[in-house]
Amino acid sequence: MASDDAYVKCPPGGEDSIVHVDCVSHRYPDGTEGIHNMCFRVFAKEIVALCGPNGSGKSTLIEHINGLMLPDVGRVRVFGLDIDRRNLSEIRKMVGLVFQDADSQLFSPTVLEDVMFGPLNLGMSVDEARRRAEWALGVVGIKEVNKIPHYLSGGQQRLVAIAGVLAMEPRILVVDEPTGDLDPSNALRIEALLRSLRDEHGISVVVALHDMDMAARLADRICIVQGGTVVAEGKPEDILYDEELLRSAGLELPAVARLYFDLGLDKRGARRPLSLRDLVSLMREHGLVR
Ligand SMILES: Nc1ncnc2c1ncn2[C@@H]1O[C@H](COP(=O)(O)OP(=O)(O)OP(=O)(O)O)[C@@H](O)[C@H]1O
Ligand SMILES: [Mg+2]
Repeated sequence: MASDDAYVKCPPGGEDSIVHVDCVSHRYPDGTEGIHNMCFRVFAKEIVALCGPNGSGKSTLIEHINGLMLPDVGRVRVFGLDIDRRNLSEIRKMVGLVFQDADSQLFSPTVLEDVMFGPLNLGMSVDEARRRAEWALGVVGIKEVNKIPHYLSGGQQRLVAIAGVLAMEPRILVVDEPTGDLDPSNALRIEALLRSLRDEHGISVVVALHDMDMAARLADRICIVQGGTVVAEGKPEDILYDEELLRSAGLELPAVARLYFDLGLDKRGARRPLSLRDLVSLMREHGLVR
């Protein structure tokens, strides 16, 4: 092990976090280091977005939060429990993970059975599992409950995968690129769903996103992931308006921030909008549109 792989612990602070990825490094069998000295926390009832270019370590981090991957160095603590091989089933009850590749999450003969699988696996009765599955499928708007999952479109498969995790009623939902293959209306549905999980159910959501505009609209906190570690974190109105930071991490400003600067709203001392709707009302306030 290289000397800089030593377990050095994260900087102090954030003791009230519900997830603490404490200075974790993970190397894949081929020698690639997926994450390195990764420090990351999740707090109660927040939506935290992981933004970073391809290969920066978002999925590797995410798979550590429910114990799908275990650290080579460091530790991961979830609701006070250090993840190890003996408590994985307890961890997976608390942390629901929707993979980047939804297809790999579906395996039952029908959509309904697929979504019932998780609750049944948690020991629920068939009636209770069916009730939860029907609820979750309704929430994501899937009606094709008797279809073979692999015959669904990519976007529909993603919605079923999300339903499968929701049906287990996790305390933390971790979703890896949830809207990549969804049409605009389903992407908005998922965005609204993540928001309502936080607001109405008090669930914390971790979401890896390439869509910087969605990150601006949705997240309470943004973590910029680069080279296997979190290089910056903070409020969307700070991080997503820092062009130099984003550029150096291989990212771009969200459109809403780009327009804000192009319209000279920064020079007018205007507040930083996080959605197009906000931006338009700001433009109205400043007399740029009627
Ligand atoms: N199974 C694997 N075996 C070897 N290396 C891997 C494996 N999975 C990921 N990696 C490597 O680990 C690093 C982090 O990859 P990861 O998938 O976590 O990135 P990511 O930020 O999720 O990227 P993307 O935005 O493309 O989904 C990359 O260098 C990648 O090549
Ligand atoms: Mg990924």
